[in-house]
Amino acid sequence: MRVGCPKEIKNHEYRVGLTPAAVREYVAHGHEVLVETGAGAGIGADDGAYQAAGARIVATARDVFEKADMVVKVKEPQPQEWAMLREGQLLYTYLHLAPDPEQTKGLIGSGVTAIAYETVTDDRGGLPLLAPMSEVAGRLAIQAGATGLQKAHGGRGILLGGVPGVLPAKVTVIGGGVVGLHAAKMAVGLGADVTIVDRSLPRLRQLDDIFNGRVHTVYSTIDALEQEVFSADLVIGAVLIPGAAAPKLVTREMLSGMKKGAVIVDVAIDQGGCFETSHATTHSEPTFEVDGVIHYCVANMPGAVPITSTHALNNATLSHGLALADRGLRAIAEDRHLRNGLNVHKGRITNKAVADALGYDAIAPEAALNVA
Ligand SMILES: NC(=O)c1ccc[n+]([C@@H]2O[C@H](COP(=O)([O-])OP(=O)(O)OC[C@H]3O[C@@H](n4cnc5c(N)ncnc54)[C@H](O)[C@@H]3O)[C@@H](O)[C@H]2O)c1
Repeated sequence: MRVGCPKEIKNHEYRVGLTPAAVREYVAHGHEVLVETGAGAGIGADDGAYQAAGARIVATARDVFEKADMVVKVKEPQPQEWAMLREGQLLYTYLHLAPDPEQTKGLIGSGVTAIAYETVTDDRGGLPLLAPMSEVAGRLAIQAGATGLQKAHGGRGILLGGVPGVLPAKVTVIGGGVVGLHAAKMAVGLGADVTIVDRSLPRLRQLDDIFNGRVHTVYSTIDALEQEVFSADLVIGAVLIPGAAAPKLVTREMLSGMKKGAVIVDVAIDQGGCFETSHATTHSEPTFEVDGVIHYCVANMPGAVPITSTHALNNATLSHGLALADRGLRAIAEDRHLRNGLNVHKGRITNKAVADALGYDAIAPEAALNVA
């Protein structure tokens, strides 16, 4: 198969669909790989690195879209990209179609077969192609919080780990899923006093085992949240209710009970945020202050570290990507996790949640692909 990787064109997107190491794997499987010139610039991989891995460098995105049987990207296709997609071609990338009727229309009109990273599943009921970005955001949340706590950044002026003879900072993580686990790991690593609040008792048990007593675990109630948030120097918002907006667990009123100069990092801002006072910010102006509390609410945190994020993403996407390149539609037909990833095929929506959100009739992936 001919696999193509264009340069990402969404504003401030520095990640790339294929690393040179991933290209080498596709080439080793007997595939031809086309990479748009400069596609890897944001991760420090020049055209030479891709050529050394066996890719052919092409001058324009059009060259990639016209010639490739499968296009591998990071972000959802932009209007000029979906205009170049065609029936019989595979698109493998993040799509996030439910809130995006225009893109959905574009993909339907193109006839392309589109697999959305964010809906590919695994045997444990997880979303393995979404998890790496949550890992990055969770770990980054502590770096952002530690910076925010410095006096010059408006914070209280407290070091997360303290020093011998001085107590460490108190970090409260609300939501102990993928983001919360990785935030807690970083905070513990820096020597902070860490509490994880979650409403899933099985998850709290698991976290207690993972950290072997190094974090406190607390069941999420209004009382518990108030107590933890009031005493915290840094609060990480990491809750998720799948398919729903994040619940506003920390109200404006609760905020006034927090320490002045405390910091909140609302990682869940991409789902609306779990603090009533949050609004989305950007990497160029990441923080704002309400009631003396510093808010960091960047909606695309992994974008700050494109090298780490791209490699983490490629690690997660490679095996399914190779299966798609090796076996085409048969790979989707034979693997229920890839079938769950299928969102659009030959002008029909194959993901029920997307169809429901946008008022289309869904067709089951099995029916669309003609498998039993
Ligand atoms: N800002 C960014 O750049 C960025 C990057 C990656 C992920 N995210 C977002 O981070 C959020 C968390 O993602 P995740 O992958 O960790 O999700 P996850 O499903 O792994 O974890 C969510 C956790 O929240 C818990 N939870 C739900 N309701 C709760 C409540 N009332 N009180 C306490 N805990 C509660 C769940 O039990 C679960 O353990 C999501 O909104 C995700 O979209 C943002």
